[in-house]
Amino acid sequence: MKDAWFRLKAAVIRFKYKYILKEIFFLQDPETVHERMVRVGHFLGKHAWSRSLVRWLFFYQHHMLEQKVAGLTFKNPIGLAAGFDKEAQLTQILPEVGFGFMEAGSVTGVACNGNPRPWLWRLPKSRALVVNYGLKNDGSEAISQRLKKMKFSFPVGISLAKANSPDTVEEQKGIADYLKAYKTFAAEGVGDYFTINISCPNAFGGEPFTDPVKLDRLLAALDIGGKKKPVFIKMPADLSTDALDEILAVARKYKVTGFVSTNLTKQRNNGKISAEDKLPEKGGISGKVVEDLANEQIAYIYKKAGKEFVIIGCGGVFSAADAYKKIRLGASLIQMITGMIFEGPEIIGLINHDLVGLLKRDGFASIIEAVGADFKPKSN
Ligand SMILES: Cc1cc2nc3c(=O)[nH]c(=O)nc-3n(C[C@H](O)[C@H](O)[C@H](O)COP(=O)(O)O)c2cc1C
Repeated sequence: MKDAWFRLKAAVIRFKYKYILKEIFFLQDPETVHERMVRVGHFLGKHAWSRSLVRWLFFYQHHMLEQKVAGLTFKNPIGLAAGFDKEAQLTQILPEVGFGFMEAGSVTGVACNGNPRPWLWRLPKSRALVVNYGLKNDGSEAISQRLKKMKFSFPVGISLAKANSPDTVEEQKGIADYLKAYKTFAAEGVGDYFTINISCPNAFGGEPFTDPVKLDRLLAALDIGGKKKPVFIKMPADLSTDALDEILAVARKYKVTGFVSTNLTKQRNNGKISAEDKLPEKGGISGKVVEDLANEQIAYIYKKAGKEFVIIGCGGVFSAADAYKKIRLGASLIQMITGMIFEGPEIIGLINHDLVGLLKRDGFASIIEAVGADFKPKSN
Protein backbone atom coordinates (compact mmCIF):
# COMPACT_ATOMS: atom_id res chain seq x y z
CA MET A 1 0.00 0.00 0.00
CA LYS A 2 2.83 2.38 1.04
CA ASP A 3 4.68 1.38 -2.12
CA ALA A 4 1.67 2.00 -4.38
CA TRP A 5 1.15 5.42 -2.76
CA PHE A 6 4.82 6.37 -3.33
CA ARG A 7 4.61 5.30 -6.98
CA LEU A 8 1.40 7.25 -7.55
CA LYS A 9 2.80 10.42 -5.98
CA ALA A 10 6.05 10.10 -7.96
CA ALA A 11 4.14 9.50 -11.22
CA VAL A 12 2.01 12.63 -10.73
CA ILE A 13 5.02 14.83 -9.85
CA ARG A 14 7.02 13.33 -12.69
CA PHE A 15 4.29 14.09 -15.21
CA LYS A 16 4.05 17.70 -13.98
CA TYR A 17 7.82 18.18 -14.10
CA LYS A 18 8.49 16.53 -17.46
CA TYR A 19 5.55 17.93 -19.39
CA ILE A 20 4.94 21.31 -17.75
CA LEU A 21 7.76 22.66 -15.56
CA LYS A 22 10.65 21.35 -17.64
CA GLU A 23 9.06 22.72 -20.81
CA ILE A 24 8.95 26.16 -19.16
CA PHE A 25 12.44 25.88 -17.62
CA PHE A 26 14.01 24.78 -20.88
CA LEU A 27 12.70 27.93 -22.59
CA GLN A 28 14.72 30.03 -20.15
CA ASP A 29 18.41 30.73 -19.73
CA PRO A 30 19.92 27.65 -17.96
CA GLU A 31 22.06 29.70 -15.54
CA THR A 32 19.04 31.74 -14.41
CA VAL A 33 16.99 28.57 -13.84
CA HIS A 34 19.86 27.00 -11.91
CA GLU A 35 20.29 30.07 -9.68
CA ARG A 36 16.53 30.23 -9.08
CA MET A 37 16.38 26.52 -8.16
CA VAL A 38 19.20 26.95 -5.64
CA ARG A 39 17.42 29.99 -4.11
CA VAL A 40 14.14 28.04 -3.85
CA GLY A 41 15.94 25.02 -2.36
CA HIS A 42 17.72 27.23 0.17
CA PHE A 43 14.41 28.82 1.21
CA LEU A 44 12.65 25.44 1.51
CA GLY A 45 15.49 24.13 3.65
CA LYS A 46 15.18 26.95 6.18
CA HIS A 47 11.74 26.11 7.58
CA ALA A 48 10.42 22.98 9.30
CA TRP A 49 7.07 23.18 7.46
CA SER A 50 8.68 23.32 4.02
CA ARG A 51 11.15 20.54 4.85
CA SER A 52 8.22 18.34 5.93
CA LEU A 53 6.31 19.17 2.76
CA VAL A 54 9.28 18.31 0.54
CA ARG A 55 9.83 15.09 2.51
CA TRP A 56 6.19 14.14 2.10
CA LEU A 57 6.40 14.74 -1.65
CA PHE A 58 9.73 13.14 -2.51
CA PHE A 59 11.36 11.07 0.21
CA TYR A 60 11.93 7.33 -0.06
CA GLN A 61 13.92 5.06 2.23
CA HIS A 62 14.62 1.32 2.43
CA HIS A 63 16.96 -0.65 4.68
CA MET A 64 18.44 -2.53 1.67
CA LEU A 65 20.00 0.73 0.46
CA GLU A 66 21.82 1.59 3.68
CA GLN A 67 25.56 0.98 3.91
CA LYS A 68 28.65 2.07 5.78
CA VAL A 69 31.35 3.31 3.43
CA ALA A 70 34.71 4.68 4.55
CA GLY A 71 33.38 4.96 8.09
CA LEU A 72 30.34 7.03 7.10
CA THR A 73 26.72 5.88 7.11
CA PHE A 74 24.83 6.39 3.86
CA LYS A 75 21.06 5.88 4.06
CA ASN A 76 21.02 5.44 0.31
CA PRO A 77 23.69 5.55 -2.42
CA ILE A 78 22.39 8.53 -4.44
CA GLY A 79 24.30 11.79 -3.92
CA LEU A 80 24.32 15.22 -5.49
CA ALA A 81 27.56 15.69 -7.48
CA ALA A 82 29.85 18.70 -7.04
CA GLY A 83 28.87 21.76 -9.05
CA PHE A 84 25.13 22.07 -8.46
CA ASP A 85 25.45 23.51 -4.95
CA LYS A 86 28.69 25.41 -5.34
CA GLU A 87 28.11 27.68 -2.34
CA ALA A 88 26.68 25.04 0.03
CA GLN A 89 23.13 26.44 0.25
CA LEU A 90 21.22 23.16 0.02
CA THR A 91 22.46 20.98 2.89
CA GLN A 92 19.17 21.31 4.76
CA ILE A 93 16.81 20.43 1.93
CA LEU A 94 18.58 17.69 -0.03
CA PRO A 95 18.09 14.94 2.59
CA GLU A 96 14.34 15.66 2.45
CA VAL A 97 14.38 15.37 -1.35
CA GLY A 98 15.78 11.88 -0.77
CA PHE A 99 19.51 12.26 -1.41
CA GLY A 100 21.80 10.01 0.63
CA PHE A 101 24.69 12.51 0.57
CA MET A 102 26.03 15.52 -1.30
CA GLU A 103 29.24 17.17 -2.37
CA ALA A 104 29.45 20.96 -1.98
CA GLY A 105 31.67 23.08 -4.22
CA SER A 106 34.08 22.84 -5.86
CA VAL A 107 35.52 25.26 -3.31
CA THR A 108 38.82 27.00 -3.93
CA GLY A 109 41.23 28.48 -1.36
CA VAL A 110 40.44 32.05 -2.32
CA ALA A 111 37.12 33.17 -3.81
CA CYS A 112 36.90 32.73 -7.57
CA ASN A 113 34.75 34.53 -10.16
CA GLY A 114 34.94 31.70 -12.66
CA ASN A 115 35.09 32.15 -16.41
CA PRO A 116 33.34 34.98 -18.25
CA ARG A 117 29.68 34.10 -18.95
CA PRO A 118 27.96 32.17 -20.49
CA TRP A 119 28.55 29.20 -18.19
CA LEU A 120 25.92 26.63 -19.09
CA TRP A 121 24.18 25.21 -22.18
CA ARG A 122 21.66 22.40 -22.65
CA LEU A 123 22.02 19.68 -25.26
CA PRO A 124 18.39 18.42 -25.14
CA LYS A 125 18.69 15.69 -27.76
CA SER A 126 21.95 14.36 -26.33
CA ARG A 127 20.51 14.61 -22.78
CA ALA A 128 23.59 16.46 -21.59
CA LEU A 129 24.83 19.87 -20.45
CA VAL A 130 27.88 21.86 -21.46
CA VAL A 131 29.55 23.48 -18.46
CA ASN A 132 32.03 26.33 -18.44
CA TYR A 133 31.67 27.82 -14.93
CA GLY A 134 35.39 27.60 -14.28
CA LEU A 135 35.08 27.05 -10.53
CA LYS A 136 33.01 30.08 -9.60
CA ASN A 137 32.59 30.04 -5.79
CA ASP A 138 32.76 32.21 -2.65
CA GLY A 139 36.03 30.66 -1.43
CA SER A 140 36.91 28.33 1.44
CA GLU A 141 36.55 30.81 4.31
CA ALA A 142 33.04 32.01 3.45
CA ILE A 143 31.77 28.51 2.60
CA SER A 144 33.27 26.81 5.65
CA GLN A 145 31.71 29.49 7.88
CA ARG A 146 28.35 28.98 6.18
CA LEU A 147 28.53 25.21 6.68
CA LYS A 148 29.72 25.53 10.27
CA LYS A 149 26.33 26.96 11.22
CA MET A 150 24.48 23.97 9.74
CA LYS A 151 23.63 20.57 11.13
CA PHE A 152 23.68 17.84 8.51
CA SER A 153 21.42 14.80 8.54
CA PHE A 154 23.49 13.09 5.82
CA PRO A 155 27.18 13.00 4.82
CA VAL A 156 28.38 16.23 3.22
CA GLY A 157 31.58 16.08 1.20
CA ILE A 158 33.65 19.11 0.24
CA SER A 159 35.05 19.25 -3.26
CA LEU A 160 38.37 21.12 -3.22
CA ALA A 161 40.03 22.80 -6.18
CA LYS A 162 42.53 25.54 -6.92
CA ALA A 163 41.29 28.97 -7.94
CA ASN A 164 40.86 29.44 -11.67
CA SER A 165 43.26 32.30 -12.25
CA PRO A 166 46.64 33.00 -13.91
CA ASP A 167 47.97 33.40 -10.33
CA THR A 168 47.61 29.68 -9.56
CA VAL A 169 49.03 28.29 -12.80
CA GLU A 170 52.52 27.97 -11.31
CA GLU A 171 52.59 24.57 -9.55
CA GLN A 172 53.50 25.68 -6.03
CA LYS A 173 50.90 28.45 -6.12
CA GLY A 174 48.29 25.95 -7.29
CA ILE A 175 49.18 23.59 -4.46
CA ALA A 176 49.06 26.49 -1.98
CA ASP A 177 45.47 27.26 -2.98
CA TYR A 178 44.32 23.62 -2.59
CA LEU A 179 46.10 23.59 0.77
CA LYS A 180 44.41 26.78 1.91
CA ALA A 181 40.99 25.31 1.10
CA TYR A 182 41.78 21.96 2.75
CA LYS A 183 43.21 23.55 5.91
CA THR A 184 40.34 26.01 6.25
CA PHE A 185 37.75 23.21 6.29
CA ALA A 186 39.92 20.93 8.43
CA ALA A 187 40.45 23.72 10.99
CA GLU A 188 36.69 24.31 11.27
CA GLY A 189 35.98 20.56 11.41
CA VAL A 190 33.52 21.05 8.57
CA GLY A 191 32.67 18.33 6.03
CA ASP A 192 32.46 14.54 6.34
CA TYR A 193 34.83 13.79 3.46
CA PHE A 194 36.96 15.65 0.94
CA THR A 195 37.27 15.25 -2.80
CA ILE A 196 40.30 16.67 -4.52
CA ASN A 197 39.11 17.90 -7.87
CA ILE A 198 42.04 17.52 -10.28
CA SER A 199 39.81 17.49 -13.33
CA CYS A 200 38.08 20.84 -13.84
CA PRO A 201 38.10 20.97 -17.64
CA ASN A 202 37.57 24.73 -17.85
CA ALA A 203 40.32 26.38 -15.85
CA PHE A 204 43.54 28.35 -16.43
CA GLY A 205 46.52 26.06 -16.86
CA GLY A 206 44.41 22.96 -17.66
CA GLU A 207 44.52 19.93 -15.35
CA PRO A 208 48.16 19.86 -14.17
CA PHE A 209 47.57 17.47 -11.26
CA THR A 210 46.50 14.62 -13.50
CA ASP A 211 50.25 14.31 -14.07
CA PRO A 212 51.33 11.64 -11.54
CA VAL A 213 54.49 13.50 -10.46
CA LYS A 214 52.55 16.69 -9.77
CA LEU A 215 49.74 14.73 -8.11
CA ASP A 216 52.33 13.12 -5.85
CA ARG A 217 53.56 16.59 -4.81
CA LEU A 218 49.99 17.81 -4.26
CA LEU A 219 49.05 14.83 -2.05
CA ALA A 220 52.34 15.12 -0.14
CA ALA A 221 51.63 18.81 0.55
CA LEU A 222 48.07 18.06 1.67
CA ASP A 223 49.52 15.38 3.94
CA ILE A 224 46.50 13.18 3.43
CA GLY A 225 48.50 10.15 4.62
CA GLY A 226 47.68 11.22 8.18
CA LYS A 227 44.12 12.10 7.23
CA LYS A 228 41.25 11.74 9.67
CA LYS A 229 38.50 12.02 7.08
CA PRO A 230 38.06 10.08 3.82
CA VAL A 231 39.70 11.68 0.79
CA PHE A 232 38.64 11.01 -2.81
CA ILE A 233 40.10 12.15 -6.12
CA LYS A 234 37.74 13.46 -8.80
CA MET A 235 38.91 11.92 -12.03
CA PRO A 236 38.88 13.28 -15.57
CA ALA A 237 36.69 11.30 -17.96
CA ASP A 238 39.18 11.29 -20.80
CA LEU A 239 42.14 9.42 -19.28
CA SER A 240 44.01 6.65 -21.05
CA THR A 241 44.41 3.41 -19.10
CA ASP A 242 48.17 4.08 -18.79
CA ALA A 243 47.47 7.45 -17.19
CA LEU A 244 44.88 5.81 -14.94
CA ASP A 245 47.42 3.22 -13.80
CA GLU A 246 49.85 5.98 -12.84
CA ILE A 247 47.21 7.82 -10.82
CA LEU A 248 46.20 4.58 -9.08
CA ALA A 249 49.81 4.05 -8.04
CA VAL A 250 50.08 7.54 -6.52
CA ALA A 251 46.69 7.13 -4.82
CA ARG A 252 47.85 3.85 -3.33
CA LYS A 253 51.03 5.48 -1.98
CA TYR A 254 49.01 8.12 -0.12
CA LYS A 255 46.20 5.75 0.95
CA VAL A 256 43.53 7.76 -0.84
CA THR A 257 40.04 6.45 0.04
CA GLY A 258 38.82 6.29 -3.52
CA PHE A 259 37.75 8.03 -6.70
CA VAL A 260 34.83 9.94 -8.10
CA SER A 261 34.58 8.59 -11.64
CA THR A 262 34.11 10.90 -13.45
CA ASN A 263 34.06 14.62 -14.14
CA LEU A 264 32.89 16.09 -17.47
CA THR A 265 34.31 15.00 -20.82
CA LYS A 266 36.23 17.44 -22.99
CA GLN A 267 36.10 15.33 -26.14
CA ARG A 268 34.00 16.84 -28.93
CA ASN A 269 33.98 13.76 -31.17
CA ASN A 270 31.85 11.69 -28.79
CA GLY A 271 29.29 9.60 -30.70
CA LYS A 272 26.63 10.35 -28.07
CA ILE A 273 26.44 14.02 -29.10
CA SER A 274 23.37 14.44 -31.30
CA ALA A 275 23.87 16.33 -34.58
CA GLU A 276 20.64 18.18 -33.71
CA ASP A 277 22.31 19.87 -30.73
CA LYS A 278 24.41 22.98 -31.21
CA LEU A 279 27.68 22.48 -29.36
CA PRO A 280 29.32 25.65 -27.97
CA GLU A 281 33.06 26.00 -28.49
CA LYS A 282 34.01 25.85 -24.83
CA GLY A 283 33.06 23.68 -21.87
CA GLY A 284 33.00 20.14 -20.53
CA ILE A 285 30.07 17.84 -21.32
CA SER A 286 27.94 15.92 -18.81
CA GLY A 287 25.02 13.49 -18.85
CA LYS A 288 24.56 10.75 -21.43
CA VAL A 289 27.61 12.01 -23.36
CA VAL A 290 29.98 11.12 -20.50
CA GLU A 291 28.13 8.03 -19.23
CA ASP A 292 30.04 5.30 -21.10
CA LEU A 293 33.40 6.91 -20.33
CA ALA A 294 32.53 6.97 -16.62
CA ASN A 295 31.33 3.36 -16.71
CA GLU A 296 34.52 2.21 -18.45
CA GLN A 297 36.62 3.95 -15.82
CA ILE A 298 34.64 2.47 -12.92
CA ALA A 299 35.01 -1.02 -14.36
CA TYR A 300 38.72 -0.53 -15.02
CA ILE A 301 39.49 0.68 -11.48
CA TYR A 302 37.36 -2.04 -9.87
CA LYS A 303 38.92 -4.80 -11.98
CA LYS A 304 42.42 -3.52 -11.15
CA ALA A 305 41.97 -2.71 -7.48
CA GLY A 306 38.76 -4.36 -6.26
CA LYS A 307 37.70 -3.06 -2.86
CA GLU A 308 41.03 -1.32 -2.19
CA PHE A 309 39.42 1.93 -3.32
CA VAL A 310 35.85 3.16 -2.86
CA ILE A 311 34.41 4.21 -6.20
CA ILE A 312 31.76 6.91 -6.47
CA GLY A 313 30.20 6.51 -9.92
CA CYS A 314 29.16 9.73 -11.62
CA GLY A 315 28.01 10.58 -15.14
CA GLY A 316 24.74 10.14 -17.00
CA VAL A 317 22.61 8.61 -14.26
CA PHE A 318 18.97 9.27 -15.22
CA SER A 319 17.32 6.12 -13.79
CA ALA A 320 17.69 3.25 -11.33
CA ALA A 321 18.95 1.05 -14.18
CA ASP A 322 21.74 3.58 -14.89
CA ALA A 323 22.72 3.70 -11.21
CA TYR A 324 22.53 -0.07 -10.85
CA LYS A 325 24.82 -0.56 -13.84
CA LYS A 326 27.51 1.57 -12.15
CA ILE A 327 27.02 -0.31 -8.85
CA ARG A 328 27.42 -3.69 -10.55
CA LEU A 329 30.56 -2.40 -12.26
CA GLY A 330 32.09 -1.52 -8.88
CA ALA A 331 30.67 1.79 -7.61
CA SER A 332 29.59 1.82 -3.95
CA LEU A 333 28.00 5.24 -4.27
CA ILE A 334 26.49 7.30 -7.09
CA GLN A 335 26.45 11.01 -7.81
CA MET A 336 24.36 12.92 -10.32
CA ILE A 337 23.30 16.37 -11.56
CA THR A 338 22.18 16.24 -15.19
CA GLY A 339 19.65 13.44 -14.67
CA MET A 340 17.94 15.52 -11.98
CA ILE A 341 17.77 18.55 -14.27
CA PHE A 342 16.25 16.53 -17.13
CA GLU A 343 13.97 14.27 -15.06
CA GLY A 344 13.08 16.45 -12.02
CA PRO A 345 13.77 16.14 -8.30
CA GLU A 346 11.34 13.23 -7.85
CA ILE A 347 13.83 11.09 -9.77
CA ILE A 348 15.97 10.70 -6.64
CA GLY A 349 13.27 8.88 -4.66
CA LEU A 350 12.26 6.93 -7.76
CA ILE A 351 15.83 5.75 -8.39
CA ASN A 352 16.06 4.57 -4.79
CA HIS A 353 12.67 2.90 -4.98
CA ASP A 354 13.45 1.10 -8.23
CA LEU A 355 16.96 0.15 -7.06
CA VAL A 356 15.35 -1.90 -4.30
CA GLY A 357 13.34 -3.72 -6.97
CA LEU A 358 16.48 -4.44 -9.02
CA LEU A 359 18.38 -5.72 -5.95
CA LYS A 360 15.49 -8.04 -5.06
CA ARG A 361 15.16 -9.24 -8.66
CA ASP A 362 18.81 -10.29 -8.65
CA GLY A 363 18.64 -11.94 -5.23
CA PHE A 364 20.76 -9.44 -3.28
CA ALA A 365 19.95 -8.85 0.38
CA SER A 366 21.49 -5.38 0.29
CA ILE A 367 23.28 -2.94 -1.99
CA ILE A 368 26.65 -3.97 -0.55
CA GLU A 369 26.33 -7.39 -2.20
CA ALA A 370 25.69 -5.82 -5.61
CA VAL A 371 28.85 -3.68 -5.69
CA GLY A 372 31.10 -5.13 -8.40
CA ALA A 373 28.70 -8.06 -8.99
CA ASP A 374 29.51 -8.08 -12.71
CA PHE A 375 33.06 -9.20 -11.87
CA LYS A 376 32.31 -11.76 -9.18
CA PRO A 377 32.39 -15.45 -10.04
CA LYS A 378 28.85 -16.80 -10.36
CA SER A 379 27.96 -19.58 -7.92
CA ASN A 380 25.68 -22.33 -9.24
C1 LIG B 1 26.44 22.76 -13.76
C2 LIG B 1 27.57 21.85 -13.44
C3 LIG B 1 28.63 22.33 -12.67
C4 LIG B 1 29.69 21.47 -12.32
N1 LIG B 1 30.70 21.95 -11.52
C5 LIG B 1 31.59 21.06 -11.01
C6 LIG B 1 32.53 21.45 -10.01
O1 LIG B 1 32.55 22.61 -9.57
N2 LIG B 1 33.38 20.52 -9.53
C7 LIG B 1 33.38 19.22 -9.97
O2 LIG B 1 34.17 18.40 -9.46
N3 LIG B 1 32.50 18.82 -10.92
C8 LIG B 1 31.62 19.70 -11.43
N4 LIG B 1 30.70 19.28 -12.36
C9 LIG B 1 30.74 17.87 -12.85
C10 LIG B 1 29.75 17.00 -12.08
O3 LIG B 1 30.10 16.92 -10.72
C11 LIG B 1 29.69 15.59 -12.67
O4 LIG B 1 30.97 14.99 -12.55
C12 LIG B 1 29.29 15.58 -14.14
O5 LIG B 1 28.29 16.53 -14.40
C13 LIG B 1 28.75 14.20 -14.56
O6 LIG B 1 27.58 13.87 -13.84
P1 LIG B 1 26.08 14.07 -14.46
O7 LIG B 1 26.09 13.47 -15.82
O8 LIG B 1 25.18 13.36 -13.50
O9 LIG B 1 25.83 15.53 -14.48
C14 LIG B 1 29.67 20.13 -12.77
C15 LIG B 1 28.61 19.67 -13.55
C16 LIG B 1 27.57 20.49 -13.88
C17 LIG B 1 26.43 19.95 -14.71
